[in-house]
Amino acid sequence: MSPTSRRPRLYAAAVAAVAGALAVGMAVAAPSNADSSGADSSGADSSGADSSGADSSGADAAPTLGQLAAAKGRYFGSATDNPTLTNVPYTDVLGSEFNQITVGNTQKWQYIEPSRGQFDYTQADQIVAFAQAHNQTVRGHTLVWHNQLAGWVNDVPAGELLGVMRNHITNVAGHYKGKLVHWDVVNEAFEENGARRQSVFQQKIGDSYIAEAFKAARAADPNVKLYYNDYNIEGIGAKSDAVYDMVKSFKQQGIPIDGVGMQAHLILGQVPSTMRQNIQRFADLGVDVAITELDIRMQVPRDATKDAQQANDYRTVVNACLAVSRCVGITVWDFSDGYSWIPSVFPGEGAALIYDENFGKKPSYWAVYEALGGTPTTTTTTTTTGGTTGCTATYKVTGQWNGGFQGEVTVRNNSSSTISGWTVKWTLVAGQSLGNVWNGVATTSGRDVSVRNASYNGSLGGNGSTSFGFVGSWTGSNPVPANVTCTVG
Ligand code: G3I
Repeated sequence: MSPTSRRPRLYAAAVAAVAGALAVGMAVAAPSNADSSGADSSGADSSGADSSGADSSGADAAPTLGQLAAAKGRYFGSATDNPTLTNVPYTDVLGSEFNQITVGNTQKWQYIEPSRGQFDYTQADQIVAFAQAHNQTVRGHTLVWHNQLAGWVNDVPAGELLGVMRNHITNVAGHYKGKLVHWDVVNEAFEENGARRQSVFQQKIGDSYIAEAFKAARAADPNVKLYYNDYNIEGIGAKSDAVYDMVKSFKQQGIPIDGVGMQAHLILGQVPSTMRQNIQRFADLGVDVAITELDIRMQVPRDATKDAQQANDYRTVVNACLAVSRCVGITVWDFSDGYSWIPSVFPGEGAALIYDENFGKKPSYWAVYEALGGTPTTTTTTTTTGGTTGCTATYKVTGQWNGGFQGEVTVRNNSSSTISGWTVKWTLVAGQSLGNVWNGVATTSGRDVSVRNASYNGSLGGNGSTSFGFVGSWTGSNPVPANVTCTVG
């Protein structure tokens, strides 16, 4: 486990103690040197990422994205891949924050039917089992795609390929019958100009292959929702028009299609302005819509301005989905910037997701959270010192109750070089007092608070981040401080 994900076991007790003291009208003394070291010595807690919001130990635990989405009749999920399933801080978030999972790679043809007629479900079954163990629904991805296709398929004679495709679908959809809620039956079959992509299926079977794939999938699993899935169809344009025409004609002909997946691999500041309208026009055809692979990439490194734009973009996408009743849910294409496909395909770009590399929640997480109806007591102020060579502190109230509150400060290294220590300062402007602090060493002087790193989280790699937390008390109001500063050293 990474040291940045430590949480003191005394956390719940500390929250309860502050809440309890306030309930009987006692003042909570702010320790003059509230140190996390005692709590830390209790050991790393397997609950993982401090800020997952999925902690169930406190009565005031914040709802997860999955819970917020469910309250709106939707899901909020993440794709995942097998190598990350052994990373405990990762799976702590994956298993708790989301109520849906998409199999990111290992249901693709090259993994499932690597040789003709030889099916291997081992890896994909592991992901489905993880989801079942965590009460999450599963989206299958994907039955027919020109990419990550087993090499042998390209050599199948034209007269045999329809049978091979049907056999693949019959076996795979049959194996997962009853275990999935959605299937991406055909993926990325159109070019940007709306023409059919010249895949091996298109070339050897012809236009009918998509309808044939949907019919075979329905026969194999009558209850799973069957989707056509593609990228760059989020807004109205030539490509989404072509998909629209196909779905319309499938509905007229009785070809079994239940939904359209809009992948939504988006670029910072470029959420299509017609996204809501586009989702609505598909819904009006009588199909569901899902946002299936959301990420919003930027030129790295991140900074506060880009983070704010990205948060706005995520909010726009969530709102577009929520505006259409047939938009059933949203899936991010993995959730942590450390596990995104973007940097390997778009050099110089990345930071596209809602958690950073250390599983700290980014402004984009909080934008999604608020758009899904999360409690507005969470507030963020960001202050940067030292520009690109300093650090940034983001202060949030993550939970608040009568007289007490819980806060979290995320510290981010602005530079690409490792830093070996940090100090965050702020002023308690409305007479609040500080209670226990974890993952940091606090000193208070009157209204002034100074928190320096604990022994284990001072070293932050290039653009890395960590967070510390605290509880406090308030009377009257609990505004966020205006003067949070972060200093390296
Ligand atoms: O499994 C091998 C591994 O053995 C090897 O050591 C390693 C070395 O590069 O490669 C591994 O395979 C990689 C595979 O992901 C699993 O990690 C491939 O090289 C890599 O090309 C492949 O990329 C995947 C990509 O689809 C392929 O187009 C991404 O992980 C996956 O996230 C991405 O997902 C697609 C959706 O399925 C469809 N929509 C677009 C989306 C992003 O491209």
